[in-house]
Amino acid sequence: MASFPVTRLRRFRRTAALRGLVSETRLSLDDFVYPLFVCPGEGVEKPLEGLPGIGQRSVDLLCDEAEGAHRLGVPAVLLFGIPEEKDEVASGAYDDDGIVQRSLRALSERVPDLVLLTDVCLCEYTSHGHCGLVEGDEILNDVTLELLGRTAVSHAEAGADAVCPSDMMDGRVAALRGALDAEGFEQVPIVSYAAKYASAFYGPFREAAESAPAFGDRRSYQMDPPNVREAIRECELDLEEGADAIMVKPALPYLDVIRAARERFDAPLFAYNVSGEYAMVKGAAARGWLDERRAAVESLLAIKRAGADVIVSYWARELAEWL
Ligand code: PBG
Repeated sequence: MASFPVTRLRRFRRTAALRGLVSETRLSLDDFVYPLFVCPGEGVEKPLEGLPGIGQRSVDLLCDEAEGAHRLGVPAVLLFGIPEEKDEVASGAYDDDGIVQRSLRALSERVPDLVLLTDVCLCEYTSHGHCGLVEGDEILNDVTLELLGRTAVSHAEAGADAVCPSDMMDGRVAALRGALDAEGFEQVPIVSYAAKYASAFYGPFREAAESAPAFGDRRSYQMDPPNVREAIRECELDLEEGADAIMVKPALPYLDVIRAARERFDAPLFAYNVSGEYAMVKGAAARGWLDERRAAVESLLAIKRAGADVIVSYWARELAEWL
């Protein structure tokens, strides 16, 4: 390639139309999943301080929000439930009449074409806030698997289009696959939060889902931030166990992990643009320190450029208005 002055890379940057023509990465609403929080009651919409624009909603208002987002072009939602009561064994997670199960039934009726994904985890339903059963200060692995399997089956029964285990117990994908198949749900895909890190960026989510651990932290089950080869092993194992898609989470601080997973695996790759990533931009924009729309679009583009096929983002609905 000839160099300057023959080659001038600025030529294609001169106008928006020229830039658009050679754009290597594009955002399409088709690739976005909108996370929603559902809480007990009726007519309830509780704003969340750390997640501006995202509230907890009772089933009726959840349906309105989901329908509105779907009408704007948002193809999928990811449901998180805040149960009436929490206990040691997370009963609300696998209750056929639980908050997520009721939402699924209502949503499948109200917005039949909307893709319904569910987060499968115990932390929103346990009194101690951990993602598994607890003995002393240990988070138990194998006994947790059975409850996760039951949770996934109850979601499938209530109309989930795919289930997304986010607990990070070893062997949960195989446990979910076994439980789903045993109940006749061999068609329900598993989107595994395969490389989920023990991250400070989940801060605002824990307020939203009321799931902060009452003691300790999640470092004995979620991944350690310095590791990327281990993330590949997590993905590999989950795919061997039957995951249909894998996820990296958080997204922006782990773009290298997204890239590594993309290069290594051909399964659909999700990335979760988590609460803290969203809150940082919202917070700075509220102070006039940066332009929210530009910062959001740039962040989401970076996640795509790194190799994600699907992005879970609290911006999904606003993005529908921006694009
Ligand atoms: C549940 C779960 C968490 C998130 C998604 N599923 C929280 C956690 O692991 O503590 C975080 C999502 C976000 O921060 O937006 N285990």
